Amino acid sequence: MTSSDNVLQFGPFRLLPQARMLLKGGEPVRLGSRAREILFFLVERAGRIVKKNELIKRVWPDTVVEEGTLRVHIAALRKALDDGKGAMRYIENVTGHGYRFVAPLSALTHAEVQPVQVEPNLQPPALPSTPVRLIGRMQALETLSSRLQEQRFMTVAGPGGIGKTSLAIATAHYLQSSYEHGVCFVDLGSVSTSAAISGALAAALGVASDTSNPVPGILRLLTHRRMLIVLDNCEHVIETAAVLAQTVLGAAANVRILATSREPLRAMNESVFRLAPLEIPPSSAVMTAAEALEFSAVQLFVERAMASAHLFELNDADVPVVADICRKLDGLPLAIELAATRMDVFGLRGLAARLHDCLGILTRGHRTAIPRHRTLRATLDWSYAILPRAEQVALCRLSVFAGSFDAAAARMVITNDEADLEDVVDLLTDLVSKSLLTVRINEDQAVYQLLGTSRAYAMEKLQARDECNEVRERHARSRGFDATSAPLSAADWLCQSAANARRPLADMST
Ligand SMILES: Nc1ncnc2c1ncn2[C@@H]1O[C@H](COP(=O)(O)OP(=O)(O)OP(=O)(O)O)[C@@H](O)[C@H]1O
Ligand SMILES: [Mg+2]
Repeated sequence: MTSSDNVLQFGPFRLLPQARMLLKGGEPVRLGSRAREILFFLVERAGRIVKKNELIKRVWPDTVVEEGTLRVHIAALRKALDDGKGAMRYIENVTGHGYRFVAPLSALTHAEVQPVQVEPNLQPPALPSTPVRLIGRMQALETLSSRLQEQRFMTVAGPGGIGKTSLAIATAHYLQSSYEHGVCFVDLGSVSTSAAISGALAAALGVASDTSNPVPGILRLLTHRRMLIVLDNCEHVIETAAVLAQTVLGAAANVRILATSREPLRAMNESVFRLAPLEIPPSSAVMTAAEALEFSAVQLFVERAMASAHLFELNDADVPVVADICRKLDGLPLAIELAATRMDVFGLRGLAARLHDCLGILTRGHRTAIPRHRTLRATLDWSYAILPRAEQVALCRLSVFAGSFDAAAARMVITNDEADLEDVVDLLTDLVSKSLLTVRINEDQAVYQLLGTSRAYAMEKLQARDECNEVRERHARSRGFDATSAPLSAADWLCQSAANARRPLADMST
C-alpha cells in the first residue's frame, strides 16, 4: 500500500484506510469488523502471501481462534466483494501457505477523490440496546445525566469491567429525547489505530467521506446539530480521542461528549466521573439474606448465580461467603458475573475456595461478549498491554504489597537505586489514573493499593519476570524483617514456584 492516508481503488471499490471504510459506487459496503480488518491487512501486503497465523494474530489479537473461523470471515469478505463472480479476482487462497490480495490497486490523487458528502437528514444509527438490567447504578445515572447538563464534556473512568460502557449506554437512552438530534454512539473498542477514530465517528454520523481526512465533513455536519456523542472505550487511542473531542467541542457549540475510558482523556474542559465499584456489605457485618440483597454486588452475584446454577437461592448462612467473593473481586461487575457463571460446577463454597486463583477460574464469559470480557485475564491484558514499559515493570513489582503502601515504600520495591521520590510519585499517579491502583489520603499522606484482581494479575507477571524473590526481599527489608520467615498470602504463594535463579533487579526499562 502506498501511504496509509491514500484512497485506494480496486475494481469498482474504493478503500478509505483512515476511515476504515469500503465504498462501492460511493456507498459503504456492509462488512463485519473482522472481515474488514482482513481486507485492510491483505491490501497492505498486496501481491504478497500473508500466512494464516499472521492474519489471525492481527485480526484477533486478544483471543485464540481456529483456522475455520478465519475461513468463515474470508468467505464473508469474498461474498461482499463478489469475488470470483465476474472476471475479477481479489483474494487468492494459496493452498498450504495463506492468502494473497491479487487485484490491481491504484492510489487516487486528491483531485480524483470526491469532496466530502454530507447527508444532513441521516439520523445516527440506533443506540446499542442495554444488554443487561443495570444493577445499582441509579444514582450514578442521575448524577451523570445532571452533570451533563452543565458540562459539555464528561468522561466516565474506572477499571476494566466496572461498567463504564453499560452506564454510558443507559445514560444515552435516558438522555436521547433531550437532544434534538439524539445521541450518536461510537464504539472505539474495535478501532485498532488512532487514525481510524475520526473514520469511526464519520461512519456513525453518516458522513460519507472518501477523503483521507473526514474531520472537516464531521465538523460541517455537527455545527448544525444539537446532540450527544458517546465515545466509548477510548483508553487505547486516548490521545487522538482527546484531540478529536476537543476539536468537535471547539467547532460545534451544541454538541456534548460523553467518553468512557479506563483513564481520563486529560483534555481541556473534561470533567471526570470516576465510577465506583458495586456496593459490598462491610466485612464485619452480620446480616440476613434479605439485608445483604440491598447491596448491589450481592444482588448481581445472586442474579447471575441463579441463572447458572438453577437451584441456588441465597440463604442467611451463605451471606458471608457471597460478600467475601464480591469483596475479593473488588465489586467489579464483570468479575462478579464471570465468577457467578462458575457456580454450576463449583457451587458457592467451592467457588469461594478457588478464588485465590481468580485468573485461572474466571475464564467462562459469554461467547457473545467482546474478547476482552471473556476472561478476567483478557480484561487485565487490555490495560497492561497499553502501559509504557516502566509502568508495567512497576506494577509487577508493586504486587508484593498485600495491603496499602506509601510512595517511599513503593520506591524501595520498584527501583534499584535511590530514584527521585517525585518520579516514583508521578509513576504511581499514572497507575492511579489508569485505574490500576487506588489512592486515598491518610493523615495528609497519599496511600496506594492495588485492586485484588489487578494484584493477582501483576503477581503472575512478576513471577514470569523471574524476579519475584528478589522483589519480595526488598519489600521485606523495607519493613525491617526477614522475608524468608514471613507468612505468605495466597498471592505471595505464587512466588514460591518462581524461578530458583535469582538475578539482580532488572532496570525498569527491561
Ligand atoms: N451495573 C451493572 N449491572 C449488571 N451488570 C453489569 C453492570 N455493570 C456492568 N455489568 C456487566 O459487566 C460487563 C462489563 O461491563 P462494561 O462493558 O460496561 O464494562 P467497562 O467498564 O466498560 O469495561 P471496559 O473497561 O473493558 O470497557 C457487562 O457486559 C455487563 O454484563
Ligand atoms: Mg467499556
